[in-house]
Amino acid sequence: MRLQQTAYGLQVLAPAKLNLFLDIRGRRPDDYHDLETVFVAVNLWDELLISSSPRLEFHLEYCGLPLSAGSSRLELKPESNLVLRAARLLWRATGQECGAHIFLRKRIPWEAGLGGGSADAAVALAGLNRWWNCGLTQPQLLELAAELGSDVPFFLAQSPLAIGRGRGEILTPCQLARKLHFVIVKPETGLSTAAVFRELSPGIPPVDLSQFLVPLERGLLSCAAQRLHNRLLDPAQKLSPAVAQTRQEFSRIPLLGHTLSGSGTSYFGWCVQRQQADHVAGLLRARGYRRVYVVQSVA
Ligand code: C5P
Repeated sequence: MRLQQTAYGLQVLAPAKLNLFLDIRGRRPDDYHDLETVFVAVNLWDELLISSSPRLEFHLEYCGLPLSAGSSRLELKPESNLVLRAARLLWRATGQECGAHIFLRKRIPWEAGLGGGSADAAVALAGLNRWWNCGLTQPQLLELAAELGSDVPFFLAQSPLAIGRGRGEILTPCQLARKLHFVIVKPETGLSTAAVFRELSPGIPPVDLSQFLVPLERGLLSCAAQRLHNRLLDPAQKLSPAVAQTRQEFSRIPLLGHTLSGSGTSYFGWCVQRQQADHVAGLLRARGYRRVYVVQSVA
C-alpha cells in the first residue's frame, strides 16, 4: 500500500495479490475453511483518492468507465462495496460520522482471486484513518480489517510476502530474496468464492508448506515454482471451463510454473524475468486473451 498527500487530497494505492500456495487445513464451525496460504503483493494497483466533502460520497471507475449504483455486480453497488463498509466501521470506532469524497479507480479485475475488493477495503481503512485523524493504531486497524474480509489484513500489513492462516487473516510476514515476475490472465467469466469452496472434495491429504517456502526464501525460484499449489484449482476447473482452458494454454508455454490465484478465475505463470513475462503476455494475447497483466512482486 502506498499513501501520498497530493494537491487533490490523499492518494492511496492498493496492490493486487497472488496466492503462490493455498491449501485447506479443515472446516470451521463458522462455515469457513482454515487455510494455509502464501500471499505475494504485485504491482497491479487500484487507486483511491480521498478529498473533502461534508457527506460520504463514493465514485468508482473501472478501466476508464464510470460504474453506476445500478450495476448488476453486487460488489460494485455502493451499499455493498467494501470501501463504504470500511468507512462505516471507522465511524463506529470513532463515534463520528465524518464526510469525505472517495474516488476509486479500479484496475484490478473482480471475481479474479486477485484480492481487489479486499485491497480496496484495506486502503480505505488506512486512508480514512489518516484523513479523518481517527488515530487508530495498526493492531486496531487489523482487527477491523479482519471483520471486512479474510484477505483484507494482508493488504493492511504492508508485507510483500506473508503466510496467511485461519481464514487467511493470521499473518506471518516472510522475506522475499528476489523480485518475482508473473503474467496473469483473467478469463472473461468469474467464479463465486463460496461456490468454489463448496466444490472441494473432502479427505485429500495436506501438502507441506515448507517444501514451497524454504526454496522461495532461499531464492531458489525454479525449485519453489515447481511446488506452486492451489487446492482450489480442481474445484475451480470443474466449475469453470474457462479456467480449465486457460490452464491448458499455460501448460503449452515454457514457464517456471503456473496455477490459479485464490478461488480464481485469474490464472498466473511465474517467469524468470520481466522480458520472459512480456513475451508470454504477447503469446497469450495472440491466443485471444484480452485481460493479460505483466506484474512484479512489490518491494
Ligand atoms: O471471504 P469471503 O467472505 O469473500 O468468502 C466468501 C465465501 O467463501 C464464504 O462465505 C465461505 O463460504 C467461503 N470461504 C471459505 N473459507 C475461507 C474463505 C471463504 O469457506 N477461508
